[in-house]
Amino acid sequence: MTRLPIRFGLPVAALLLIGATGCAGADPSGAAADAAAPNPGTIGIAMPTRGEQRWIADGDNMVKQFQALGYGVDMKYADNDAQQQAAQLDEMIDRGDRALVIGAVDGTVLADALQRAHAKDIPIISYDRLIRGSADVDYYASFDNFKVGVLQATTIVNRLGLRSAGKAHTIELFAGSADDNNATFFFNGAMSVLRPYLKAGTLVVPSGQTTFAQAATAKWEGANAAARMKKLLTGERLDAVLAPNDGIARALIGALREAGYGKLPVITGQDAELDSVKLVDQGVQTQTVYKDTRELAKVAVQMTDKVLSGEKPEINDTTTYDNGEEVVPAFLLQPVSVEKANLRSVLIDGGYYSEGDLA
Ligand code: GAL
Repeated sequence: MTRLPIRFGLPVAALLLIGATGCAGADPSGAAADAAAPNPGTIGIAMPTRGEQRWIADGDNMVKQFQALGYGVDMKYADNDAQQQAAQLDEMIDRGDRALVIGAVDGTVLADALQRAHAKDIPIISYDRLIRGSADVDYYASFDNFKVGVLQATTIVNRLGLRSAGKAHTIELFAGSADDNNATFFFNGAMSVLRPYLKAGTLVVPSGQTTFAQAATAKWEGANAAARMKKLLTGERLDAVLAPNDGIARALIGALREAGYGKLPVITGQDAELDSVKLVDQGVQTQTVYKDTRELAKVAVQMTDKVLSGEKPEINDTTTYDNGEEVVPAFLLQPVSVEKANLRSVLIDGGYYSEGDLA
């Protein structure tokens, strides 16, 4: 693994602090501090798509937080097009952005761009989704992705009462996009909870489609999942649906309603997108997994600022995320399961949404 060399200088956060507190000598105007605070440069932020509410929140949060530290930002969305993203990264490298924070569209096609970045001493932060097949990823900021699936499946077990179930319940399984490293972690987390019930026969998959490959949804596109659901609905009523994120959950709700479902099955989700939070509040979607994008942005911004100042960022996982070339040191945040009962205590009291947003 080619970790970048240590640089000298204090993190911008510290420099701004010195400026603010006048530690650099009693200069109430802060002029000396301003003069002292070099221009920290521009950060390249590459996000996968605007097509989901969640990624827009991530981008906005990072822009706000980097700018608060005095950095310029160069943010691009790639419309779920991996080639477009690779071209955007090349432009950021040629423009001399000081670091790249990347939410990969397809984490398996970026190795060349990352090698170029490292050749120019530009550090790489893999954001939310792990970039695979590259020895040039410096750090990874994400959530405990396996736990996301565990939380989704636990909602299904609880809501169906599977622990004490006499009769068999039916479920169909949906997963995320195969080019997204997170998708297998989510699915494996869910299956680690559901498998014993599938074995015991208290949970049955009418289609028999229980592998990741069979359950995967290309590009996380809701329309792809809805089309698959239409083929799966053979008349046997479903008691539950494992939906990997909110966008897909809403698309599947549409497909079930079109198929004549009045009372809907237990349906999971992820991302606490506002449209789905409203549906959880109405009891239409059963659950979502909340991942505070403000906190994830904070982790990525602090990681970047530390690396650019030659310091080691805080990490809490050095084993889980092997991208095929290296085990990438990571900082993982905790996801939270949200159902109607705890929606307000988690999302409203936590300031992620206001009561007015739910109206
Ligand atoms: C995953 C991400 C999820 C969800 C999904 C679809 O990588 O972790 O939160 O947003 O992509 O974009």
